[in-house]
Amino acid sequence: MDLKAYLEKKRIQVEEALESFMLQPEGLLDHHVKAMRYSLFAGGKRIRPVLCLAVSEALHVDPSPYLRLACSLECIHTYSLIHDDLPAMDNDDLRRGKPTNHKVFGEAEAILAGDSLLTYAFELLSAPILTCGLKSEDQLRIVSIIARAIGPLGMVGGQSLDIKSEGQKISFETLQYLHSCKTGALITAAVQTGAVIGNATDEQFAALTTYGKQIGLAFQIVDDLLNVEGTAEQLGKAVGSDAKLDKATYPSFFGVEKTREMAKAAVEGAIDSLINFDNQADPLRELARYIYYRKR
Ligand code: IPE
Ligand code: IPE
Ligand code: MG
Ligand code: MG
Repeated sequence: MDLKAYLEKKRIQVEEALESFMLQPEGLLDHHVKAMRYSLFAGGKRIRPVLCLAVSEALHVDPSPYLRLACSLECIHTYSLIHDDLPAMDNDDLRRGKPTNHKVFGEAEAILAGDSLLTYAFELLSAPILTCGLKSEDQLRIVSIIARAIGPLGMVGGQSLDIKSEGQKISFETLQYLHSCKTGALITAAVQTGAVIGNATDEQFAALTTYGKQIGLAFQIVDDLLNVEGTAEQLGKAVGSDAKLDKATYPSFFGVEKTREMAKAAVEGAIDSLINFDNQADPLRELARYIYYRKR
């Protein structure tokens, strides 16, 4: 199997599903829905929904009836990016290669577009699934996993620590916790969502959770590295901004070289945790490597 082609196929599947589930701009809410769609369809990598689908397939379950659940992850992620870029947060002008949401729609509408993407995600997650076999208790488990991952004990809590840590000396433990919350938690939840869809045993769920945590950590470490070493053209967002805001990052703690080693170790840890999975999990192994080598 050509893994690159597999992952690209999954990304296109997510792209088409997002288009089919997202609201259309019309009537009185035309402007609001345009603001939601502007950031959602600005060309993200779609890593979180692709991970969810790939985990389900690693467990030999066809995830196509559950695309709605995978799409909710991308709505949540896009909301987090819109709010992350706001003047009161990271104050960024460029995202996904385009002016940030507030630059185009203004701050009030950007906040509201983020709010609606978050809330709409829970509409996608909780609407009854009538056409296939996912039990309602499993669907509720997914809603609970995702809600917990993105609230005060997860993504939003991590974002709060990130902002609070600007210009501060924090411990390595706090940095690790901050990264695992602001970025790791949603990535882990995407993996766990795929695990529930795929009817994972407790043992498989635990192994996949370790995989999710390790790639989640690697993902943010590499995001920090690219902010130092990447270019705005490649990334579609500003570089050098972490240093300017005096953010707590891995390179600011350890320098670039040691940070690369730490990202590599996290990716290797992720791949090791899949030891008991057969070659259906190869896309997950490839995704872990991609997270290390990615240039955007
Ligand atoms: C960027 O996420 C923000 C972080 C959580 C590190 P991605 O790198 O997945 O951004 P897109 O979705 O491809 O734009
Ligand atoms: C983004 O972290 C995390 C979330 C949006 C939850 P960063 O602020 O480090 O990511 P970029 O570099 O702006 O994408
Ligand atoms: Mg930020
Ligand atoms: Mg940012």
